[in-house]
Amino acid sequence: MRYLSGIQPSGTVHIGNYFGAMRRHIERQEGNDCFYFIADYHALTTIKDPEEMRRNVLDVALDYLAIGLDPNQAVIFRQSDVPQVVELAWVLSTIAPMGLLSRCHSFKDKVAKNVEASLGLFAYPVLMAADILIYDSERVPVVKDQKQHLEVTRDIAQTFNRIYGDTFVIPEEEIESATAVVPGVDGQKMSKSYSNTIEMFASEKQLKKATGRIVTDSKAVEDPKDPAGNTIYQLYCLMASPAECAEMERRFRAGGYGYGDAKGALRQKILEYFGPFRERRDVLARDPDKVFAILEDGAQRARRVAEKTLRRVYERVGLR
Ligand code: ADP
Ligand code: TRP
Repeated sequence: MRYLSGIQPSGTVHIGNYFGAMRRHIERQEGNDCFYFIADYHALTTIKDPEEMRRNVLDVALDYLAIGLDPNQAVIFRQSDVPQVVELAWVLSTIAPMGLLSRCHSFKDKVAKNVEASLGLFAYPVLMAADILIYDSERVPVVKDQKQHLEVTRDIAQTFNRIYGDTFVIPEEEIESATAVVPGVDGQKMSKSYSNTIEMFASEKQLKKATGRIVTDSKAVEDPKDPAGNTIYQLYCLMASPAECAEMERRFRAGGYGYGDAKGALRQKILEYFGPFRERRDVLARDPDKVFAILEDGAQRARRVAEKTLRRVYERVGLR
């Protein structure tokens, strides 16, 4: 199965990103044909600082390699290293209906968050369609906010196939309902936009600060599973073994187990769980050329597929 996902280079990753998306990307690499790219063309709609762009792209690559992405199994590359995708986006834009694009939530949401209402931001779903279609992707993991974009992709692909004959594989979504939403320190969904994150590679000191901010409701102590009162327990159990998780539950129910102790156990667990990833990341970070070589190798593999698709498209539409 050709499995594809684009990852925004948007700065430091948090444990919600890991348990909600990144971990699954790694699990999928076994037995599938995975294409993962760092969506830097997309990020241009929001990042206007070249140094920040370069740093973030390298960071995402380091994060993924650190958590176990194996470049011999999955293809990892930078979106802009395969510029053919922009050529395809132009062709697709000539059949993408304005009405459909106007209904996309993400444009309105981002503009509401003060992102400049540029043409690129409006056309974002068309570039995303090109990303998916150029690699003949069969499966795309979809989270709620991206579901509509996949529908747009399918619509564009079907329209193209109808006008020009069978050209594109119609991608299927892989629904992520199995993944629970990871709560942030305030109990809401963990998200950069809510400033309630616990970073995956936080130092002990940063962790102390972050866990210190976890809002707790003392009324809920008897029931550690009460989502309103016990973010600590929920986060802990993402990383702990079932036995350790049950033990924390037992302590809470027995009474006298303070939130301070529970936060300490959570911190310990985060350090233990992400420690090996951090070590691998630190080693890789010392050798960015190696990381760039991995990205370039991925881009070469991706380009071979993209060039073939683009040739097919150009022939179909009469540009060759
Ligand atoms: P943020 O909300 O922090 O900006 P993104 O929207 O960049 O995060 O999300 C990147 C990926 O991580 C997406 O696949 C998203 O579904 C996943 N993700 C983000 N936050 C969470 C969360 N709290 N729980 C589960 N998955 C999450
Ligand atoms: N739009 C996605 C996001 O904001 C990133 C992305 C770009 C993507 N192109 C893609 C995801 C293609 C899946 C497939 O997270």
